[in-house]
Amino acid sequence: MSTTRATVIGVGHYLPDRVVENAEFEKTLDTTDEWIRSRSGIERRHFAAEGQPTSDLATRAAQAALADAGLEAGDIDAIIVATSTADLTFPSAATMVQASLGMTRGFAFDVQAVCAGFVFALTNANALILSGQAKRVLVIGAETFSRIMDWTDRSTCVLFGDGAGALVLEAQEGTGEASDRGILSTDLNSDGRHRDLLYVDGGVSTQSTGYLRMQGNAVFRHAVEKLAATATTALDKAGLAASDIDWVVPHQANIRIIQGTAKKLGLSMDRVVVTVQDHGNTSAASIPLALSVGKARGQIKPGDLVVTEAIGGGLAWGAVVLRW
Ligand code: UT7
Repeated sequence: MSTTRATVIGVGHYLPDRVVENAEFEKTLDTTDEWIRSRSGIERRHFAAEGQPTSDLATRAAQAALADAGLEAGDIDAIIVATSTADLTFPSAATMVQASLGMTRGFAFDVQAVCAGFVFALTNANALILSGQAKRVLVIGAETFSRIMDWTDRSTCVLFGDGAGALVLEAQEGTGEASDRGILSTDLNSDGRHRDLLYVDGGVSTQSTGYLRMQGNAVFRHAVEKLAATATTALDKAGLAASDIDWVVPHQANIRIIQGTAKKLGLSMDRVVVTVQDHGNTSAASIPLALSVGKARGQIKPGDLVVTEAIGGGLAWGAVVLRW
């Protein structure tokens, strides 16, 4: 039976020029390169330039993905930006990207599910394509978490970075089998009872921007269990098993979470794309960044079964199973 599939036809990313090594934090905080590496796996991260907003990072990643797809902005029907650090309260970062790309048709909107944002955005893009409302969707994850760091809080400010990644999805016909290219299944979850574990203590109605606050240890405990569970649920929905996976492309928050989740899924680390050492935690940007880097490294190839999974503030978490 013929089935429409939202299929990846382009991928790209952008990282700001400024690279900050762990050692830089030793100058201002009671921390060490050794602590940051051993507890998180992070070695360096990129920070946006002063005055460089999230929509600029998003636009550059989008341009790279469009070039990879051999398309122009006018070929796109919709743009979704996953971000918690949009330039302004409104309009959306997505409409800013739309204008920067010179796209005057279609529609654009943001999705906010913090570090799980890209998985939520991909699921929305998939729904738009399967329902026939869009043929080609640009899905972007872009963040400037450096803007919401409390630089005196060593337990958070050493962990995050800035960046953006993007995919172009296109409606293509499949057979309805798990051998099809494209998104095969998705699984989304949230549980607002855990909102105090990871949040920003400011926002529009408090008339402040606020800073990121995290009970890292508690988030860590939720992460491994929930990530393995959502990946397994998404695989079940596609009629697949963990042993079918070619690449897990996880949210890049902490190498120990990535290793723990792979172990729970029964996978060795040589099937996991890891970029956390170079990017830190870039929230909603981390998965598309890792997809783009994974392809550039020659890891992810056409036909590979890819599972993405992420968890973040809310808590919100989910997974997407797709064939590249
Ligand atoms: O992306 C959204 C989801 N977020 C995550 O997935 C993050 C999840 N959490 C984590 O990745 C880890 O919990 C952290 C990397 C944040 C922390 O690692 P941990 O092994 O859970 O450490 P901890 O929070 O239990 O802290 C251990 C110790 C504490 O000292 P005491 O209380 O044992 O004396 C901290 O004060 O490490 C101390 N510490 C630091 N020491 C040096 C915290 N931050 C630092 C630091 N440098 N930067």
